[in-house]
Amino acid sequence: MELDSLSSLERSHHCGALTAEHAGQAVVLMGWVARRRDMGHLIFIDLRDREGITQILFNPDHAAAAHQKAKGLRSEFVVALRGQVVRRDPGTVNPAISTGDVEVLVSELCVLNEAKTPPFPIEDEIATSEDLRLKYRYLDLRRARLARNFKLRHQITMAVRRVMDAQGFYEIETPFLTKSTPEGARDYLVPSRLQTGSFYALPQSPQIFKQLLMVAGMDKYFQIVRCFRDEDLRADRQPEFTQVDIEMSFAQPETVFRMIEPLITEIFAVKGTAIQTPFQRLPYRDALERYGSDKPDLRFGLEFVDFSGLFAGTDFPPFQNALEAGGQVKGIRVPGCAGYSRKQLDDLTAVARVFGANTMAYVRVLENEVQSPLLKNLGEAKCREMAEAPQARPGDLLLIISGSRKVVAESLGAVRLQVGKQEKLIDSKALSFLWVTDFPMFEYDATEKRYVACHHPFTSPTDEDLDKIVSNPGDVRAKAYDLVLNGMEIGGGSVRIHRQDVQAAVFRALGLSEEEARLRFGFFLEALEYGTPPHGGIALGLDRIVMLLAGENSIRDVIAFPKTARAVDLMAECPTPVDQKQLDELGIRFLGRLD
Ligand code: AMO
Repeated sequence: MELDSLSSLERSHHCGALTAEHAGQAVVLMGWVARRRDMGHLIFIDLRDREGITQILFNPDHAAAAHQKAKGLRSEFVVALRGQVVRRDPGTVNPAISTGDVEVLVSELCVLNEAKTPPFPIEDEIATSEDLRLKYRYLDLRRARLARNFKLRHQITMAVRRVMDAQGFYEIETPFLTKSTPEGARDYLVPSRLQTGSFYALPQSPQIFKQLLMVAGMDKYFQIVRCFRDEDLRADRQPEFTQVDIEMSFAQPETVFRMIEPLITEIFAVKGTAIQTPFQRLPYRDALERYGSDKPDLRFGLEFVDFSGLFAGTDFPPFQNALEAGGQVKGIRVPGCAGYSRKQLDDLTAVARVFGANTMAYVRVLENEVQSPLLKNLGEAKCREMAEAPQARPGDLLLIISGSRKVVAESLGAVRLQVGKQEKLIDSKALSFLWVTDFPMFEYDATEKRYVACHHPFTSPTDEDLDKIVSNPGDVRAKAYDLVLNGMEIGGGSVRIHRQDVQAAVFRALGLSEEEARLRFGFFLEALEYGTPPHGGIALGLDRIVMLLAGENSIRDVIAFPKTARAVDLMAECPTPVDQKQLDELGIRFLGRLD
């Protein structure tokens, strides 16, 4: 088909802009042919751009040349057209689109480019595999749903910049070619050509640099910044993702909470959603004891009931063994579910087993009796006591798990979530924000046989626990907090160590020799000696926040060019092997696959 040039045509409106108010106006639209319907005499096309769809009408009696040209249009051709906005006949109004009251009667058509037939239809509801959509991501992004997501993402980014500026924060960039910043994942390494044999690491976060900006007296810093982590991916994780990274001098946890809550309020206002502040707070220990998770979804109850006290001294082996080994017997009361079938109970037991529970017991609370496989071992009185502890009523079901604290927390936590979902106890419109506070400073890593930092090693222990860093690291609490929304961690931060002696002690507790600490973080330890103010901050997961606000289930739907669960970019086809010449320049020899 012969192509036209844009010449002097200038767009007057986007395709989502026209309403009945524009009737009679001359307009120039540009976009992609979403659909063409040839009705013989008349030809209709749906013209699409980022903002929406407008119906276009070609009438040979009005403009014969344009009508003739329109016969050659196909899906995804790029066109510019001049025409007049007219009201549609009442019978053809389309209430499903914002421009559904009008159409544009064309007087002049320019075909700016042709297109091959796309490998999948560009419509919101498509059954195409995600892999194919990712290979042709630029076509996938033409879908209205994704266009909406990126508009939302842009608006959120702008809201963040507005609020941070108004609160006196400077936006400052930090390096990507840098040294390892420990955040618990593997680093992506970049070999240096000029220093053969040496590597940069892409930042897992700007943690050290933002702290150095506080040493530098920058006072309040933020950055909307890409972070890189080589870790196992899930629906809410990407190898490169974006944080709203924040640091403030002279801050306590409360200072951070007080600045973040208005920021989150503004972010949600972008979608017209009002939220309640201040957010609820829950110490880490309570979150684990009551919900079995450090990011509990509090849109529903099903709080844990601790039966351990009831069974002190019991000779029922599963409970006895768990309790004697320092474990627990805990359960949840599920209202109105005493009638669960064998299969329903087995399915929930299977969920518990995934998280290490040997089995799951139950008690059905009925009008005049309790029914349970535990009756024959524990007797009716004990089973009744169990039902009374959470004030169970006839019709309720108790689900009970015993084991180590970790197994009970994780498996009963998973059962709680599953029951919450299947019993539709979760209001999908509700927003439950929560600060989880007082995380432990260290946790013991059984494989590495040493303590590792729960948050990162720059997090400050609480003042009361400073003297336990060496003597009892497992008991040290940290000034660390996470922001949780509906069971998803959307941010994490802490007050930092600002004293060099405390930082050195923490490195020692983590099993880092002085030599290693100097090699990895010497520049940072030295900086702490030059007048470091107390400081603290947080990083919000921007992709996760946009995903929740957009109502998407996958973070990939709010990232323009995401990677698959195997960290592959299917469109650019990377990672790829590189030329031998490039490797030679870097002094790197490939030893073959290591799998
Ligand atoms: P943290 O590691 O908790 O803290 O990260 C902060 C937030 O970033 C988001 N996030 C991710 N989002 C998508 N894909 C990933 N792979 C991914 N990993 C993390 C989460 C998380 O809450 N330097 C500290 C912050 C600080 O202490 O100030 C840090 O990076 O929403």
